[in-house]
Amino acid sequence: MQILETDFLIIGGGLAGLTAALKLSARGRVLVAVKKEPTESNTSYAQGGIAAVMDPGDSFAHHIQDTLIAGAGLCQRDVVEAIVTAGPPCIRELEKLGLAFERREGRWDEYDLGQEGGHSHRRVLHAGDFTGQEIIRVLLERCREQRRITLRPHLMAVDLATAGEGKARRCLGAWFLDGATGELLGVRATVTVLATGGAGKVYLYTSNPDVATGDGVAMAWRAGLPVLNMEFVQFHPTCLFHQDAKSFLISEAVRGEGAVLKTRDGAPFMERYDPRASLAPRDIVARAIDREMKTRGDDFVLLDITHHSAKFLRKRFPNIYARCLEFGINMARDPIPVVPAEHYFCGGVEADVAGRTALPGLYACGEVACTGLHGANRLASNSLLEALVCACNAAAAILQRPPEKPGVAPPFPDWRASGEAASEEAVVIAHNWESVRKAMWDYVGIVRTTSRLERALARVKMVQHEVAHYFRSYRVTSDLLELRNITDVAALVIRSALHRKESRGLHYTLDYPLPDDAHPPRDTRLQL
Ligand code: SIN
Repeated sequence: MQILETDFLIIGGGLAGLTAALKLSARGRVLVAVKKEPTESNTSYAQGGIAAVMDPGDSFAHHIQDTLIAGAGLCQRDVVEAIVTAGPPCIRELEKLGLAFERREGRWDEYDLGQEGGHSHRRVLHAGDFTGQEIIRVLLERCREQRRITLRPHLMAVDLATAGEGKARRCLGAWFLDGATGELLGVRATVTVLATGGAGKVYLYTSNPDVATGDGVAMAWRAGLPVLNMEFVQFHPTCLFHQDAKSFLISEAVRGEGAVLKTRDGAPFMERYDPRASLAPRDIVARAIDREMKTRGDDFVLLDITHHSAKFLRKRFPNIYARCLEFGINMARDPIPVVPAEHYFCGGVEADVAGRTALPGLYACGEVACTGLHGANRLASNSLLEALVCACNAAAAILQRPPEKPGVAPPFPDWRASGEAASEEAVVIAHNWESVRKAMWDYVGIVRTTSRLERALARVKMVQHEVAHYFRSYRVTSDLLELRNITDVAALVIRSALHRKESRGLHYTLDYPLPDDAHPPRDTRLQL
């Protein structure tokens, strides 16, 4: 098998991965492995923007407080403080790279800050409603200018490569499937950064792109790293309801501009659930929509922003406006049919604010990591902030490491996991893919019960068994690898949810409908 050598291996090309790559290229060769096209990452699909304290009327104290409230007792205060206060300087660095956040009309010195649920102030920096796309465009441009950065598309990570035992165990890089040749290859690096993003494809309906199959969490888990809080899965309340729209996101910023959630007969309902009405935090809004749809037998609810003019909506939400029109919905005139869909994983690989994990040589940043910022429920637009700050911190920490002495690193391990035969039954993969995602949607969604979770676990374990057999017997394909990853992540979500005998933040179960306030809130920690 071919083994490539580099100084720094970055797995994933979203905000966290590309930020780390740019900074690390100051010291050595960086290989950025991207599973599909470089533009395909969760970051690219972020519409709302980045939450940061950039307005003199706002304060770190308010942003910290809003984050802690949304997190329902499980955020780590020191982590929240570190990330919120590091936001503004990191944002300025991003601007120096060429990112132009929207300013108020005629005011070059004032940001046009968006409002989202759970925020006590307007603090969301945005570039129209395609902030993520703009971030990736600028970062890719800068990365392509760096001679030391190699961007490798269609390189799908299979597993982490480690050597040594106990305290001497370390990460040496990873194995990949090269989509261009169908061959496996190894990449050896002194440091590996996992920046693989989220795992929305674990669920049947998700706002995430197809690449979001939880690869980083699954690989870290199989390598024996602790994984935290996987039961806290955020469902975005408002994705477009249309058979061809693939759960297209209708940004929370739309509610920030006054859109009101209504039932199909045009009656607003959120006041019955929370005094903040349509701008309550996402867990509350998603549960309320789920309840209204189930009680009324409706397939969707409506999001009404018709009080704004077409001119305003076209300027503020160019992407959403155009997309809705494609489906025959003029948002200046028609309420938008919406449903909740999986959106973000608050849990992930245990990591600190500099991305350090339990495995020396391995860092994790962005959605793949669980740092303690989000707790039991992420505050809107804090995810891009976390990805940016933690990637900057990780790069700084990595650059402070003493250079490796030549000749001391252990040999790259041999690959011995998968089979050689070509599979003749791709249908098995397609069927299992569907059945895991459907079981997760039906039994491990917004409202859970212990018996639904147990039913889902039984199904997922069966698939895990088949996948393991397949993996041992046949040549790997990207479909098999993704199925293996979503199945491992699904099992982690269910087992974490079964551990939590209370309802808190995004985890709501009818068997324990209240938070367990008799005991201090704790993280769910799973390890092989
Ligand atoms: C949105 O625009 O509603 C998504 C923002 C986020 O998930 O933070």
